[in-house]
Amino acid sequence: MYQDKEGPYSKIAGTGGYLPEKILTNADIEKIVETSDEWIVERTGIKQRHIAGENESTCDMAEHAARQALEMAQCKPEDIDLIILATTTPDRIYPSTACLLQERLGCIGAPAFDVQAVCSGFVYALTTADKFIKTGAAKRALVVGAETYSRILDWEDRGTCVLFGDGAGAVVLEASDEPGIFATQLHADGRYNDILTVGGQVNQGEIIGSGFTAMNGGEVFKFAVTHLSKVVKEVLADNNMQADEIDWFIPHQANMRIITATAKKLHFPMEKVVTTVSEHGNTSAASVPLALNIAVRDGRIQRGQTLLLEAIGGGFTWGAVLLKF
Ligand code: UT7
Repeated sequence: MYQDKEGPYSKIAGTGGYLPEKILTNADIEKIVETSDEWIVERTGIKQRHIAGENESTCDMAEHAARQALEMAQCKPEDIDLIILATTTPDRIYPSTACLLQERLGCIGAPAFDVQAVCSGFVYALTTADKFIKTGAAKRALVVGAETYSRILDWEDRGTCVLFGDGAGAVVLEASDEPGIFATQLHADGRYNDILTVGGQVNQGEIIGSGFTAMNGGEVFKFAVTHLSKVVKEVLADNNMQADEIDWFIPHQANMRIITATAKKLHFPMEKVVTTVSEHGNTSAASVPLALNIAVRDGRIQRGQTLLLEAIGGGFTWGAVLLKF
């Protein structure tokens, strides 16, 4: 069980999620690039993904997810004193999408900023919010992961366009005398910046280089399985916990093969693993909070249960969060 540590803790008071209406199935993708439903399902487990509408932005999706989380937490936007939004597909270069979301919600005055850690973004954002709450700098944080990843995909590159989707997930995290989050671990290794990247930059009004996702799939796969199981072992060891004390494992939804390989290495039975990748594809920073929200709302995750969240993404970045829901 978790070790006695000094409070205050931060605790998830509400969760929310949003998926755009448009669904792109593997059969639809077969019409765009040379691929097959069989190949995609066998290599990734993905059957379909949601794609944002033409006029739908990351902030639009974040707002839906945030409002749901606020409602579950029974709190008003003005009760929020910190907004952290994880995205790699912001509405604008600046200001941050967190500031745009703040305007929509009306929680004016609270600090608001984006976190860029690609698919690890939500785990980075949740860890940062936890530190704010633990130090007393915030009492109630809105933490969001939202992506319109479809806009940075090259729809002629079958190696990447089949993998990703759009969506948003959110939590309200608030100060509590009881845990709550009891361990977090974050890591990065910038030497691997090139294995998953959008290499372009904006200069003098033009994109110099590529505005599309480029990936060395094999390298990403190997890196993910090795480092995810390591970071999960770290958060468990921080609290003298064993894998069998975890009620629900909520991994980054990149690829079913990465999820099953990691669960196997950690001896987590698949019945305890929340998976959404077959229906959502990889929604980057939105994947973990979306999966969490779905399992909370369908009644699988119950109050008092112990959850383990992990993610890995471009950078390379990775991390894990251990918490009591
Ligand atoms: O947050 C992290 C995000 N990234 C990931 O999760 C990706 C991790 N990597 C992977 O999941 C896998 O590497 C992939 C699913 C991307 C690829 O699977 P793989 O088993 O590593 O395939 P591969 O890249 O070695 O390619 C095998 C073959 C190649 O053909 P040849 O050269 O053997 O003739 C590819 O051109 O599969 C071909 N291929 C495809 N075929 C049909 C690649 N993409 C596709 C496709 N449909 N969509």
